[in-house]
Amino acid sequence: MDYITIALAKGRLAELTMDLLEKAGLDVSELRQKSRKLIFTDEKNKFKFILVKASDVPTYVEHGAADIGVVGRDTLLEAGKDLYEVIDLGFGACRMAVCGPKELAGKLDSIHNMRVASKYTNIARNYYHTVKKQSVELIKLHGSVELAPLVGLSEVIVDIVESGKTLQENGLVVLEEVCDLSARFVVNRVSMKMESERIVSLVKTIQSLLHSEE
Ligand code: PRP
Repeated sequence: MDYITIALAKGRLAELTMDLLEKAGLDVSELRQKSRKLIFTDEKNKFKFILVKASDVPTYVEHGAADIGVVGRDTLLEAGKDLYEVIDLGFGACRMAVCGPKELAGKLDSIHNMRVASKYTNIARNYYHTVKKQSVELIKLHGSVELAPLVGLSEVIVDIVESGKTLQENGLVVLEEVCDLSARFVVNRVSMKMESERIVSLVKTIQSLLHSEE
């Protein structure tokens, strides 16, 4: 029997994903040991787990290097890959929002060529192009995005808001909602056909676990 490979997003989602996979009957004990290994095995059930940077999860799954991925909807939307999104896992719930100083509330539509800093420039581009139909200047950043309006790099940011603490501590507010986010279970389209039985069985187990938690 071939191994089925699951790519987990390193960071806050990884622990929650391990908890879920464990409840679904997989042996994630090797994955839980804090080590520098990047690939882990559940010999009994013939699963492999790889720990990758969140933004790389869609790439591994798209190319079939992983059959399954668990990653945030933000990462999927930003990557824009053709993956089979099977389950909304519910955890890691947060939202993508336009944020900035409260003085800009109600004024965003009138700022000419507004500068928007974001880690998620594809999501931001799509939002301004398709939803707002507004032309803006996008500035790509890789972290600590809340800094941008504070030092005059941009008027606003498009970023993830979870507890709202980062915004609050930096004197910023949510100005517009872009979309809701949460962790998603995605499958490579070929794997879904080739390993249909085992993948569908795991999907069903996870779905019933999620329903029983509701
Ligand atoms: C994310 C996000 C916000 C923050 C939101 O950043 O980009 O900065 O979390 O969380 P909160 O609403 O609970 O404060 P992350 O911690 O991933 O780090 P980064 O800014 O370096 O990307």
